[in-house]
Amino acid sequence: MILITGASGNVGREVVKQALTLGLTIRASFRSPDVAAKAPAGLEGVIMDYTKPETIRPALHGVDKIFLVGPPTRHLLALEARFIKEVRASGRKYIVKLSALGGHQSIFPSGHRDSEENIEASGLPHTFLRPNAFMQNLVNYNTATIRSRDAFYGCQGNGAVSIIDIRDIAAVAVIVLAATGHEGRSYALTGGEALTNGQIAEKISRVAGRKISYIDLPPTEFKTAMLSAGTPEWSAEAMVDLHRFYRVGKAKRTTEEVERFLGRKPITFDQFAHDYAFAFREEEKVAS
Ligand SMILES: NC(=O)c1ccc[n+]([C@@H]2O[C@H](COP(=O)([O-])OP(=O)(O)OC[C@H]3O[C@@H](n4cnc5c(N)ncnc54)[C@H](OP(=O)(O)O)[C@@H]3O)[C@@H](O)[C@H]2O)c1
Repeated sequence: MILITGASGNVGREVVKQALTLGLTIRASFRSPDVAAKAPAGLEGVIMDYTKPETIRPALHGVDKIFLVGPPTRHLLALEARFIKEVRASGRKYIVKLSALGGHQSIFPSGHRDSEENIEASGLPHTFLRPNAFMQNLVNYNTATIRSRDAFYGCQGNGAVSIIDIRDIAAVAVIVLAATGHEGRSYALTGGEALTNGQIAEKISRVAGRKISYIDLPPTEFKTAMLSAGTPEWSAEAMVDLHRFYRVGKAKRTTEEVERFLGRKPITFDQFAHDYAFAFREEEKVAS
């Protein structure tokens, strides 16, 4: 039995979908019973919260492999560590952790590296998937201003990033979960090309049917804009720091891992933009 955590999230949802397509036997964990009730058919749903150990133990029953997803917040290390403590107490299970590229060089990936170190120290068999930034961030975080102002904002200048489609991350995750032989390995997952936000704006313009601009702001202005939009202080600071990391070219390298796993090139940004064009067009449409 494979436990997929964070099944309501962007990556977890896609991993669940692809695991079911592949016919894997999965249990998926949700925090909210309402969300769990809407889970696709064919899986066993369980309610689990990393802050409540009494919910973790039953979720682990009969499980031998785990896809571990933690939230992108300042609490990532603490939450994943509480979960790992329960896993250790329940026996030897294989952990495939969704991590991030960048190690200790920026705030967001640093929390992941800390959690990787905790897993390494736990002695549990593990594999780390370290993706670069997601293409779907453009949909999840930028469509509001793309629709209302024909623009999206940041402070990464002309820094190019080898962004990756979540569907490719999930496809790799499912292969690793279904197979053996990946224990002790880490995989840096990127798209096939590094793009600047200016190039991304041009590509989105093509599918949106109107000009979309990337507006580069001074870091303090970008942070203020995020704070006034309701982003918590820690997340706004971490985002500014991530853009600094991008600006200096630290996230532009591409790797062959996705192609090696999937036997095809990574999904291109043009393909992604075509598939998600509905999100960038002016008329409101609800994703199915
Ligand atoms: N965005 C990027 O470009 C990027 C790049 C590399 C790595 N990453 C990493 O990828 C990971 C997943 O990203 P994502 O976009 O899929 O995140 P997401 O959509 O925010 O999903 C996080 C998941 O964790 C669950 N969760 C939150 N708190 C929990 C708790 N206390 N107990 C149990 N489950 C809890 C959430 O459940 P609820 O729905 O109930 O909140 C949700 O299912 C993050 O760790 C992020 O740092 C992101």
